[in-house]
Amino acid sequence: MADGSIEVYESEGRRFPPSAEFAAAALTNDRSLYDEADADFEAFWARQARELLTWSKDFDTILEWDLPFAKWFPGGELNVSENCLDRHVAAGRGDRVAYHFEGEPGDTRTITYADLLADVERFANVLKGLGLRKGDRLAIYMPMIPELPVAMLACTRIGVAHSVIFGGFSPDAITDRCVDAEAKVIITADAGYRRGEPSALKPNVDAALEVGAPSVEHVIVVDRCGTDPMMVDGRDHWWHDLMAEAEPRCPAEPMDAEQLLYLLYTSGTTAKPKGIMHTTGGYLTQVAFTHKYVFDLRPDTDVYWCAADIGWVTGHSYIVYGPLTNGCTSVMYEGTPDTPLPEHRDGDRADWRKDRLWDIIERYGVTQLYTAPTAIRTFMKWGDEWPDAHDLSTLRVLGTVGEPINPEAWMWYHRHIGRESCPIVDTWWQTETGGHMITPLPGVTTTKPGTATNPIPGVYAEVVDDDGNAVTEGGGYLTITKPWPSMLRGIWGDEDRYRDTYWSTYEGRYFAGDGARVDDDGYIWILGRVDDVMNVSGHRISTSEVESALVDHPAVAEAAVVGATDEITGQAIVGYVILRGTASASDDLREEIRQHVAKKLGATARPKAVFLVPDLPKTRSGKIMRRLLRDVADGHDLGDTTTLADPNVVEAIRAGAEAGDDD
Ligand code: PRX
Repeated sequence: MADGSIEVYESEGRRFPPSAEFAAAALTNDRSLYDEADADFEAFWARQARELLTWSKDFDTILEWDLPFAKWFPGGELNVSENCLDRHVAAGRGDRVAYHFEGEPGDTRTITYADLLADVERFANVLKGLGLRKGDRLAIYMPMIPELPVAMLACTRIGVAHSVIFGGFSPDAITDRCVDAEAKVIITADAGYRRGEPSALKPNVDAALEVGAPSVEHVIVVDRCGTDPMMVDGRDHWWHDLMAEAEPRCPAEPMDAEQLLYLLYTSGTTAKPKGIMHTTGGYLTQVAFTHKYVFDLRPDTDVYWCAADIGWVTGHSYIVYGPLTNGCTSVMYEGTPDTPLPEHRDGDRADWRKDRLWDIIERYGVTQLYTAPTAIRTFMKWGDEWPDAHDLSTLRVLGTVGEPINPEAWMWYHRHIGRESCPIVDTWWQTETGGHMITPLPGVTTTKPGTATNPIPGVYAEVVDDDGNAVTEGGGYLTITKPWPSMLRGIWGDEDRYRDTYWSTYEGRYFAGDGARVDDDGYIWILGRVDDVMNVSGHRISTSEVESALVDHPAVAEAAVVGATDEITGQAIVGYVILRGTASASDDLREEIRQHVAKKLGATARPKAVFLVPDLPKTRSGKIMRRLLRDVADGHDLGDTTTLADPNVVEAIRAGAEAGDDD
């Protein structure tokens, strides 16, 4: 709104008017970055690259674009760890805190930029000592402890690409990812703390290696919880032993701007995860730019907190690379927002403290909080009294990411956490985009509860219809029309899949897989995935991945999986299973099948419910009608079932679902 006021949002007859104070503080309407980018988007990104980063050799070209393959800043050389650490220390900011670490049991560590650099140099020498060289890949499977960013940054110092595997994933996921990337080393910990207990990691690595990942020569283990894991002679090494023996200095090697920085595996519509490739110069430029402008960063005084897990792209870009490049102080925490107090270890969940986040914000004077809608909805459910008991007045900007945020949750966040005086940045982006793409900028964009608003300067998005024509008002598919610096450079080992998945649906455009709607202000409302990918608490899980895990159980003949609407997690996984003739239905078997999926894919992919059904609704051409299954799971009217081969199937399924619904 040109007058600088904030829109009053109406939803289903309810109005959400933010306070006058917020409206007044919100806007300067300074459009200069957008204007500059629109005049010449390549020159705009080149200026950001030179201003935000330190290059050991300047680039001679900004962008080489051979659709769908981009090279940003070719000819340029830089080192990521030098940008994140050395240059801040050299500028006299070595004593600045990089991370305030909060362990789950209540242990804390204060790590300065100088401390971090010292650890990274030593650990880079450890990696060299184990034979790792520029261009190699290694896997990281760690809890949220400071050794995790140390490991990542040490890789970047010597040009080794890391593949971080989320600590909640199962041994199978470790095997698959290590085999695909031909990882030479796995860095892990004995366990990490979660909900008051050590949650084992090293045993999962052992199980994964038993199945077989022949490229893995060494395993490095941090002793986080003292659980005394099995150690294989010659293969497994303690982190602390290797660090004690390593040389302290390791110069940062200049890397080509397009040097592979990391792989991060994400779910696709098939069972095989995709190794998303990110490279050096463009990636670092966009994450530094967005971290600075989207969070309205004041690096000398801010205490910034992204409460995500480094196992996801959010943590890569906005706990590690963005904040460190910008030289700011971050909070990093292990565990979950609710946690048992020592005296309630054995007690009921109701006795647990549910104000861990608010307590941390108050103690450190956190200025920006970045979290996910699923967490916000959980906080709402826990009740206002938890945040209301704390002084949250240091907060200046609130962020949300991972899934659409409903206006009610947005308003709750705005009122109870932001005290009606913090802009909320609803950031739309993906593992593939590397950094923020669509989000308000504090002080510039008029926000509206529930919309990510517009693309950042230098990024161009368009919502299109089925034929690829731009939609100026109404619903369609979200596409990106120009290359952007932190875009994925491909899928590891599968060029065709890269082209097919992202660039072939609409000619010349990147198709993000999300549905979106444009409103009469031109704002973009993300509606969620239109492919068979579910979004559970902001985690992408493909239906086919879970279906494969289900049919892997010996009692299962056929399976179909859908994402049902869930108040807290956004979507919840529901599996419909046809048993083999030899198996007989029972609650124990349903439970066993659910646990089987967790074992194969990790707890995040465990179905909330498994329904044992006599048949699945299929079209006459044999395609499973997921829409119907979703409707059954959501308890909706079924609408048109005339295209079904056997319309009676649905009623049988519905009867089975009602009988078996225990959640
Ligand atoms: O569907 C969109 C949703 O999350 C997907 C990307 O998931 P992932 O690669 O795991 O990255 C998550 C963290 C960036 C998108 O395709 N998504 C992400 N952010 C938003 C969102 N949906 C709505 N609003 C958002 N702000």
